[in-house]
Amino acid sequence: MPRIPRTDLVVSDLCLGGNVFGWTADEPTSHALLDRFVDAVPSTSRPMVDTAEMYGNGRSEQILGGWLAGAGRRDRVVVATKASPGRKEHPLSAAEIRAAAERSLTNLGTDHIDVYYAHYDDDSTPLEETLRAFDELVQAGKVRYAATSNYSAARLTEALATAERLGVTGYVALQPHYNLMERAVYEDELRDVVAGADLGCFPYFALAKGFLTGKYRAGEQIDSPRAKGAAAYVGERGDRVLRALREVADAHGTTGSAVALRWLADQPTVTAPIASGRSVDQLADLLPMLDLVLTDSERTALTDASAQ
Ligand SMILES: NC(=O)c1ccc[n+]([C@@H]2O[C@H](COP(=O)([O-])OP(=O)(O)OC[C@H]3O[C@@H](n4cnc5c(N)ncnc54)[C@H](OP(=O)(O)O)[C@@H]3O)[C@@H](O)[C@H]2O)c1
Repeated sequence: MPRIPRTDLVVSDLCLGGNVFGWTADEPTSHALLDRFVDAVPSTSRPMVDTAEMYGNGRSEQILGGWLAGAGRRDRVVVATKASPGRKEHPLSAAEIRAAAERSLTNLGTDHIDVYYAHYDDDSTPLEETLRAFDELVQAGKVRYAATSNYSAARLTEALATAERLGVTGYVALQPHYNLMERAVYEDELRDVVAGADLGCFPYFALAKGFLTGKYRAGEQIDSPRAKGAAAYVGERGDRVLRALREVADAHGTTGSAVALRWLADQPTVTAPIASGRSVDQLADLLPMLDLVLTDSERTALTDASAQ
């Protein structure tokens, strides 16, 4: 079971993506997804759920919060959300972060957030100010750990050095865009920084917006608000990856989605991939990744198939 380095959080091998809550999954379906996910995670780790204030303008957090109100759930689940202060002039200023955290705590109906990310970089605010604001939240017990998403390698390096210089809580994890179809930026630029600083890594779009489920084929229309993004991967390289996924999945009697998620979970530095389903049936295709074991040669075949 993966531990977020330098924290006391032992989390599930898969982090459930919450951007579907209140978007492609209504509230009862979202709650059913959460029930199914939490039931599937062994008791030796805590199921991790990822959301953001930006998702549905607070609606995703509220739906998760409604579910967390059930007995025993808040302590069981690791809740990750993101400071997403919209199109503000200085989105990661201290005032914006403080206000965003209060809104998220209210939406989630909790007194603390386990992992609180800066959703996007904000180069209009000094890193000192942003990091001190996250540190204040940690010192106040409102946030357990600060983390970041969508930072470049250079900015992440600068942020880590700044936190050390100031003696404040630094980021413990990065949430990058990384999956079998999107490897270069993480593997060539960010991974060394993550490894060097011993950060956790939670790749988002772990199914390449649904492409890696294998449902996108040339000329076919898929009914999803993500279809345009996912269909961009249709082509010769995409075919190669789907064929390799199919082959490994067949050998294990499982789904290509589970294989894609396990490949990602097994990559150096990755703590747990983040993926979502909009129905319990979709989620059921992802959950076998929790106990799937790939051989070295299967991992290599997938890595080779997805080479640029
Ligand atoms: N930090 C950031 O900037 C950032 C950005 C994006 C996402 N995220 C996080 O990462 C999470 C994961 O990303 P994501 O959910 O957008 O993308 P994803 O995991 O790559 O794709 C998930 C989507 O694929 C489709 N799918 C899943 N299982 C399926 C199955 N068995 N059969 C057919 N279709 C299936 C569903 O969409 P359809 O049914 O609609 O096709 C599902 O919502 C998000 O929930 C969010 O928490 C973070």
